[in-house]
Amino acid sequence: MKPRLLCIGLFAAIGFAADPRSCRCQPDQPCWPTEGQWAALNNSIGGNLVTVKPLARSCHDPNFNASACSVVQTNTYNSTYRSLHPGALQWENWETWPAADEKCYTESPRSDPCEQGRLSLFSAEVRNAQHIQTIVNFVTRHNIKLVIKNTGHDFLGRSSSPKSLQILTHFMKSMSISNEFVPTVPPMSTRPDGVKAVTVGAGVQLGEMYAFLGSKGLMAVGGTFNTVGVAGGYIQGGGHSFLGWLHGMASDNVLEFQVVLADGSLVFANAYQNSDLFFALRGGGGGSFGVVVSATVKVYPDYPLIYATLNYTMDPGTAFWDGVGAFQKHILRLNDHGGSGYYGMVPINPVSSTQNVSAFMSAIAFVNQTDLTTVKELFSPLLSDLKQVIGFEPSFGMVTYPSMSSMYSTVLAGSDTTGTGMRLGSQLVSRDFIKSDNSTRLTRAMSSLNYDPGEAVAGIILTGGQVSKNRNIASALNPAWRDTMVHVIFTRLVSADMTFEEQDAKTANITRREVPMFRSLEHGKMGVYVNEADADEVGFQQSFWGENYPRLRSIKASRDPNDLFIVRKGVGSEDWDNDGLCRLNRS
Ligand SMILES: Cc1cc2nc3c(=O)[nH]c(=O)nc-3n(C[C@H](O)[C@H](O)[C@H](O)COP(=O)(O)OP(=O)(O)OC[C@H]3O[C@@H](n4cnc5c(N)ncnc54)[C@H](O)[C@@H]3O)c2cc1C
Ligand SMILES: *[C@@H]1O[C@H](CO)[C@@H](O)[C@H](O)[C@H]1NC(C)=O
Ligand SMILES: *[C@@H]1O[C@H](CO)[C@@H](O)[C@H](O)[C@H]1NC(C)=O
Ligand SMILES: *[C@@H]1O[C@H](CO)[C@@H](O)[C@H](O)[C@H]1NC(C)=O
Ligand SMILES: *[C@@H]1O[C@H](CO)[C@@H](O)[C@H](O)[C@H]1NC(C)=O
Ligand SMILES: *[C@@H]1O[C@H](CO)[C@@H](O)[C@H](O)[C@H]1NC(C)=O
Ligand SMILES: *[C@@H]1O[C@H](CO)[C@@H](O)[C@H](O)[C@H]1NC(C)=O
Ligand SMILES: *[C@@H]1O[C@H](CO)[C@@H](O)[C@H](O)[C@H]1NC(C)=O
Ligand SMILES: *[C@@H]1O[C@H](CO)[C@@H](O)[C@H](O)[C@H]1NC(C)=O
Repeated sequence: MKPRLLCIGLFAAIGFAADPRSCRCQPDQPCWPTEGQWAALNNSIGGNLVTVKPLARSCHDPNFNASACSVVQTNTYNSTYRSLHPGALQWENWETWPAADEKCYTESPRSDPCEQGRLSLFSAEVRNAQHIQTIVNFVTRHNIKLVIKNTGHDFLGRSSSPKSLQILTHFMKSMSISNEFVPTVPPMSTRPDGVKAVTVGAGVQLGEMYAFLGSKGLMAVGGTFNTVGVAGGYIQGGGHSFLGWLHGMASDNVLEFQVVLADGSLVFANAYQNSDLFFALRGGGGGSFGVVVSATVKVYPDYPLIYATLNYTMDPGTAFWDGVGAFQKHILRLNDHGGSGYYGMVPINPVSSTQNVSAFMSAIAFVNQTDLTTVKELFSPLLSDLKQVIGFEPSFGMVTYPSMSSMYSTVLAGSDTTGTGMRLGSQLVSRDFIKSDNSTRLTRAMSSLNYDPGEAVAGIILTGGQVSKNRNIASALNPAWRDTMVHVIFTRLVSADMTFEEQDAKTANITRREVPMFRSLEHGKMGVYVNEADADEVGFQQSFWGENYPRLRSIKASRDPNDLFIVRKGVGSEDWDNDGLCRLNRS
């Protein structure tokens, strides 16, 4: 079946119809720019326009090329490689387009066809704000679907869309520190006091920022992965961090954005001007209000820390989950004393063809803490409770790092690994729940998920402390974060060897069965982290933004009245199909 027919069929089936008058222009239509117009565009952005070829194109006939394909295959799980390539994302399922039955996997046989999928047709590898303005004006004039790809890490498919023109922000790598940063204020108004801050270009990745700041004895609130972007989806979705307990969410720490709006203008958004945009860009989700050119965030000392890990591996079964329960009974207490970090379980971990084990791992950091005895004492009741239920001593170790940057460069050493097909489900779980539940219901929910070998569930405890105290900051961040103790995520592999139907069956379980099970723990009163969520989250407006959604919707209407910036499950996306190609006409 032809893609468009299939699409229309799908929308008709769910009670919507694509309105042909309000679709983005397609390559086979007269509205599509001529070759001359593309060439002129290329010229006006310094020759940085490229046609997008799927990463694995050279691995398939008729374009098979053994040497080129072997480079691609070597790098297929290399996150750095995937971030700079306009024809790649970090999770290969978002390169595919199931509705049109299009894919191009590095892992599949040479004889399989290679199709464009959800990858853009052209990419503008922009170097500055003016390039971005030129692209925004071009897509507006020609009614072309726009995509912003920074690193391509997005779990919801927000950095790809079929038949689109991509802005690739990867090459915008500027970084500068200001000892007394003052936001740009309107004329005649009072200048606020300066604070120490770093301004990063749109393409800067976390590992690059940590190395830069660390070399100056500084640190900023950022996530635990080298290749995730700083100023793109991460900060615009909120951004959790080992530094959250001391200094709040990443979005709490932004002082100013420089941003290109839908009308092509370049503006500053901060607490003193364009404060509606400032509100929206701090938590309202990437790709929905404009193209961020740079972000300025507060910097702090490069604190020393103690990094404690605790692991155990055992036969699958109830004792394994009792251990998880014992651990969770102590997280509130650890967090009250400055502990924050991650714990994760792989319930079916095949170690040989004749044995599966269950594995538990955790890493809890105490930032700005140097006294090992204090941390050891904090863990002592946990270790004895755990030993009692699992029947043996778990592995426990502590490392003192002189600085967060040295911790990051050790813990995150080497190239990040991505490139598989990955879907998530998640839920924010409140402090009150953990306190009253003594972890039994949460443990039961985690253990009742349906796991395939290698699939994981994790608890992220990067809240409490200043994250809760920042409750009064005016931002679009999901208010549920302020009450959260554990951000629960579970992963589902949707690999290249599965058909689209098999992938669908798996993701349907996330949406229909598993996420609702977690949501019901607190009767829907909490919510979900927009950056690490089910890509088909039902009622995403409420889940991702709670009471902030109506305000976000109205800011969107005033700043982007023609819906230039539409991403999957983003603000205003309910008016569009899943690919952002056609406006839905509710029938
Ligand atoms: C391995 C891994 C580890 C992670 N670790 C953490 C973590 O520790 N803490 C945490 O909070 N999150 C973490 N995340 C989630 C991460 O925050 C999101 O995936 C986020 O969307 C990544 O943003 P990006 O800009 O790097 O990615 P992209 O996929 O390139 O972009 C994400 C979204 O932002 C938009 N966007 C990108 N750049 C711009 C721009 N300049 N202007 C406007 N819109 C833009 C895109 O259009 C898209 O909608 C992690 C994700 C992965 C895959
Ligand atoms: C854009 O111009 C550059 C430099 O002239 C050229 O190498 C590139 O192929 C052009 N891109 C497209 C899409 O034609
Ligand atoms: C095959 O790929 C290599 C490496 O990218 C390139 O140098 C070569 O020209 C390609 N060969 C053909 C026939 O396209
Ligand atoms: C990953 O890709 C980057 C960019 O191409 C490259 O510099 C790096 O060496 C690669 N890493 C590995 C482990 O191959
Ligand atoms: C390991 O787990 C998988 C998935 O549940 C199962 O199919 C397999 O039989 C198990 N292997 C052993 C040796 O128990
Ligand atoms: C970090 O620790 C030092 C020394 O104990 C203390 O003076 C400082 O206030 C702490 N910083 C924060 C942000 O808590
Ligand atoms: C726990 O596992 C992690 C990841 O494998 C490892 O880095 C860490 O050293 C382990 N900790 C202990 C105490 O064994
Ligand atoms: C949880 O622990 C507290 C304090 O130990 C206890 O009073 C309470 O009854 C426990 N609740 C449940 C549900 O076990
Ligand atoms: C969906 O969940 C059910 C119930 O746990 C399970 O039996 C089934 O195998 C799951 N389906 C897929 C495709 O994962």
